[in-house]
Formats: sequence, C-alpha cells, structure tokens
Amino acid sequence: GSVVLAYSGGLDTSCILLWLKEQGYEVIAYLVTPHTTHGVFIEDLRSEFVQEFIWPALQANAVYEDRYLLGTSIARPCIARRQVQIARREGAQYVSHGATGKGNDQIRFELTCYALYPQVQIIAPWRIPEFYSRFRGRTDLMEYAEKHGIPVPVTPKAPWSMDANLMHISYESGILENPKNHAPPDLYQMTKNPEDSPNEPDVLEIHFAKGVPVKVRHVKEGTCKETPLEIFCYLNEIGGKHGVGRIDIVENRFIGMKSRGIYETPGGTILLHAHLDIETFTMDREVRKIKQSLGIKFSEFIYNGFWYSPECDFVRHCIDKSQESVEGCVQLSVFKGQVYILGRESPKSLYNEELVSMDVQGDYDPCDASGFIRINAVRLREHNRLQGAAQKK
Ligand code: ARG
Ligand code: SIN
Repeated sequence: GSVVLAYSGGLDTSCILLWLKEQGYEVIAYLVTPHTTHGVFIEDLRSEFVQEFIWPALQANAVYEDRYLLGTSIARPCIARRQVQIARREGAQYVSHGATGKGNDQIRFELTCYALYPQVQIIAPWRIPEFYSRFRGRTDLMEYAEKHGIPVPVTPKAPWSMDANLMHISYESGILENPKNHAPPDLYQMTKNPEDSPNEPDVLEIHFAKGVPVKVRHVKEGTCKETPLEIFCYLNEIGGKHGVGRIDIVENRFIGMKSRGIYETPGGTILLHAHLDIETFTMDREVRKIKQSLGIKFSEFIYNGFWYSPECDFVRHCIDKSQESVEGCVQLSVFKGQVYILGRESPKSLYNEELVSMDVQGDYDPCDASGFIRINAVRLREHNRLQGAAQKK
C-alpha cells in the first residue's frame, strides 16, 4: 500500500522514509516548509496556519497551564489535515509520522487523521518494536542513513530537540531534561537576549476587527502590514528583536508525565497582550468571564489533540460569537523582553469616560451605592454572627 509520511527533512524521518520502503510500502513524503527537495510534496501552509489556527487561538487567548501559547499544539492539526488530504487524493490508505511514543504529538497527529479520514491506517515507527529496537540511538540512525546514501546532517546536533514553525520554536529533551539546568544562551533562535536588545523601544499600533489583527503600523517608521501572514511575520521580527516571548516551564503532557520545555513565541506574545487589552475594553463583563473559562477549555482541547472534535467545535463557535465587537486599536511599546500597553481606542468601546469620572456625575447616583453595598453585606454579617456564636460556646 501507499503511505503518506509527514517528513521533516531531519534524520529521524529520513530513516523512517527508507525503512518504510524496506517494509514494502510505496512512500509519499510530504514536507511542510518552503523548502526544495525533489520527490517530495512540498506544502507552504503558513497562510492557512495563521488564519485558521493562530487566529482562533488568539481570539481565545489560548494559553496552556497559564504560560504555553501552544505553538506546537496548533501546528499538528494543520499539518495532519493536509497530510490526509494528500492521502485521500493519492489513494493512500496509510499515514506515518516520526513522533515518539511518549509525547503529545503522536496523539495530535493521529486524532486529527482519524477525525478527518476515519478509514486511515497509522504507522508510528517509534512505537513499533522492530523499528525502535533496531534504532536505539542517533548513531544507529546515522549509520543506517550513511549506508543507504541519505544525506546526514553535517553540523553536530544540538544537545536538545527542537520543533520550529512560523509561530514558535520549542526546545526539549537532551540536556534540558534535568529541569534544574539553565538553557544555554545560544539556544534561542527566534529572539534576541533581552539583555542585548536595543535600548530604543518600537512603538506599534495594532488594529483589530472581530478579535483578530487586521493591520499593524509602526508609529515612527510608518511601516504598515495588512495581510495575516505579513502581520504575523512582522510581529515575530519586532518581538524577536526585543527578546519578547521566552518561557521556560515544566508542563503536564496528556500522556501523564511532566516534561520540561523552553519556548519562544515573539509575535504571538505581542498579539496576546494587545488582544487581551482590546477585548476587555469592548466586551461585557459577564460575557468575558464565561468566555475566559471557555478559553481554558479550548486550550486544553488543543493541547490534548482534540482540535477536530465536537467539543472543540462547539467552544470555538462560542468564542467566535464573543469576538463580534472586539474591534479597535491598541498602541503598545515593545522593549527589553516586554510588551507595554500605551493606550487604546475603539468604536465599540464599553468604556464611558463620563460614567467613571471622578469629576463628573454622569448617569449615576452615588447614593445607590449605599444600598448596593449593604445588600452585599447581608451575607457577610450573617457569617460574622454565626462565627461569633461559635466563639462564645
Ligand atoms: N511540549 C510541547 C507540546 O506538547 C512541545 C512539543 C515539541 N514537539 C517536538 N516534536 N519537538 O506542545
Ligand atoms: C515527541 O514525542 O515526538 C515530541 C514531544 C511531544 O510530542 O510531546
């Protein structure tokens, strides 16, 4: 049969490609990057990645365990979706990937494949004893590659594993497995060390409509970006220049173990700050509370690989509805690893300057507040009465 392999160009998937051929499969290699290798389906998914995956995550303020912006997690359904499209088109019954048997990625790839191509058969070599007992380490893979004339990477491999895409780079395993070890300064590839970043901030204006950025303007230079991909790339550049979006965390994998990961998400971090600001400015307080809890759910679905699931679909629609009036413009400064909000304006603002002002009465009677507070105090006074009674006993 034919198998579509999610091929990264690295050592592991190169060996998997050959090994699958040895097992008698006809292999269709599929590579997601603007790369050039022949005999491979090369797909540039960046634009759809931004619009169909990064934007919904931004609308949800999707963050896993309070810190991780999910850059790897949202890329998997995007990659696997195209993989099964190719499989269907080419009449391939099998798909394969190089994710390990201990991680989240295997789950995300495979759940997406099953959800979109229920008859698919999955080959996960790192879970097949004949494969993993034959390739016990990097040297085994290198030897195999050399023997079969696969170009092996000439540069010595960094002592950690890395996953890079348009949104972020993640680093884990190797010397990072000891959670006490600090990341070496030369690990980071998307962001400058904030200690060496420019002493001048970049001030940006980010315009939102329906909860997604539609325009970014550099206030001093006048540079404007208006397409989703351009906007995101530009924010990566500015964020990277100022060292924005680095985190070092220990997280909980779906499979049940904790893992240590380091991430850099420059553009995504700038957008998260800006979106949170314009959202609170334009959204009803009670809607916001519900929406926030849905965002936490959404993040968990994404992390665990359930992008294509009824629950995720449902939550995504609710979040989408909440973004109808999330519109306006945020000015912010990017400087020394930080994003500083400077100001905001919106035609859909719920902020009422007159209502909140200390100097103007507005449509508000301060005397009403006495009753409001006393009613809220009923419960507290009752609680005190009971406590007092208990103490007297
Ligand atoms: N721990 C992160 C996640 O689960 C990053 C995974 C990195 N994947 C990789 N193939 N290196 O989303
Ligand atoms: C992998 O196991 O392939 C990488 C780590 C993960 O997916 O969590």
